[in-house]
Amino acid sequence: MPPNIVLIGFMGTGKSTIGRALARRLEWRFVDTDLIIERVAGVSIPTLFVQEGAQAFRDREATAILGISAGERQVIATGGGAVLREDNIAALRGAGAVVLLTAQPEVILERVSRRPEQRPVLAGDEPPLTRILRLLGERGPSYQRAAHAIVDTSERSPTAIVDELVRLAERWQA
Ligand code: S3P
Repeated sequence: MPPNIVLIGFMGTGKSTIGRALARRLEWRFVDTDLIIERVAGVSIPTLFVQEGAQAFRDREATAILGISAGERQVIATGGGAVLREDNIAALRGAGAVVLLTAQPEVILERVSRRPEQRPVLAGDEPPLTRILRLLGERGPSYQRAAHAIVDTSERSPTAIVDELVRLAERWQA
């Protein structure tokens, strides 16, 4: 088994939902960088974006990633923009097995539309699906480069996805 399992991927690909279920299955700790950032800052991520701006959020995100990368037996869910910095990618790959969760853009739209106020990156005048497609295009190469394995979550149950992740982890060779 790897020391940790790291879930990366775009918003709405299931990192938190799958991460929690996987951690429960493995009896590992579940950590979510967005939740760490909110705890340290004492405000929500949308509020942080308004008060401090995107760069300051990315700085906090990098600090959170460095902090948790030293631990073990953790399922780590990252924010969708975690791969935007090379240092984050290096820290996450150093921490263990990095799995990219993907989903069809329409599925992502459907999932993020449930709580749009939670996603400051999708706010603005651009139609949400256009924004999602553009960001997926921009970030795609970074996601691919950061990942040891890729699992699509569009049409499968959380249980089936967790089963696959457990199999992947059991086959892990450092
Ligand atoms: C972001 C994704 C969010 C959160 C922040 C920025 C992004 O996390 O970190 O709003 O840039 O894609 P989720 O992927 O968990 O929604």
